[in-house]
Amino acid sequence: MQFLLYALLPVKGKAVISGLHHYALEVPDLTVAEGFLQDFGLETGEKDGSLVAMCPGRHQEQVRLLEAPAKRLHHVTFTLRPGTMDAVREALERSGTPVIEPPPGAAGDGLWLRDPDGTAVQLLDEPQAPARPAAEVLVNMGGTRQRVDIAQWTRATEDVLPRRLGHSLLFTAQPGRMTAFYTQVLGLRVSDTIHHDMVTFLNAGPGDHHIFGFIASTHRGFHHASFEVPSIDAIAVGADRMRARGHQAGWGLGRHTIGSNFFHYNPDPWGSWIEWFSDIDQIDDCWVASDWDVPPHLWGAPPPETFLANSEPAPPKEPANEP
Ligand SMILES: [Fe+2]
Repeated sequence: MQFLLYALLPVKGKAVISGLHHYALEVPDLTVAEGFLQDFGLETGEKDGSLVAMCPGRHQEQVRLLEAPAKRLHHVTFTLRPGTMDAVREALERSGTPVIEPPPGAAGDGLWLRDPDGTAVQLLDEPQAPARPAAEVLVNMGGTRQRVDIAQWTRATEDVLPRRLGHSLLFTAQPGRMTAFYTQVLGLRVSDTIHHDMVTFLNAGPGDHHIFGFIASTHRGFHHASFEVPSIDAIAVGADRMRARGHQAGWGLGRHTIGSNFFHYNPDPWGSWIEWFSDIDQIDDCWVASDWDVPPHLWGAPPPETFLANSEPAPPKEPANEP
């Protein structure tokens, strides 16, 4: 069934989700997961009986990991803008999306539902924790001369760890339906698309070009999550650190087309990806979405052949919402 635009929007024309809070994966070995995420630059700990990973200096879990036989996306969690929870409840009701009990292994707070792919979604009525502060990056590029009497190489590697979780992209076999749900029921907005619905980028109002999105695939799955680091140097230093610790080289350094961010991806131990980014486009209410016919990167080596492989096992038929 087609969603009725505007009739279902929680707050007409307003983004109600303020950002991605964390994502949760089922993985076969928590010890391997913990070591990998620590090498990536996250701190790990325990919360609500789960392994969690955080950005150093930021008081918000960014990843939750639960032990299970195979890697699988367990849930995604978003924060809501203040005062929008009641409107979201009404939008869910109008769309016929039931509120559910938290899935086993998840924390019970907030509002839980399932998206059209059957993925559990948690909505928290709380603000995002501030990202770890970062110093200004002074540049001598183009016509700009900001750095005088400072040897950049002595400072470039001082602050290189992730500051915040920025976005995640999921595989889906029904990008049109998923996009309709996340925009018309949960209030995200389309930022841009590639080849119609081959890749869809969604934003949560003024801020990062995208906080969530979809890659068309044969079935649902987790593709990647991306963490902001303070500089392009931090991305390269992170990639060096992963190589030195024996991880596969991954993809990067490059600059993306859509979103424009510098990037480097590492494959995680389960066939999906984790990314550092810096210098992502910021957008506001004036941004107009476009459809593009472009490769994912403006420059840099092409992506490995495995980059768009959905390694997640096709799940058994889930009870999908029937809005
Ligand atoms: Fe990304």
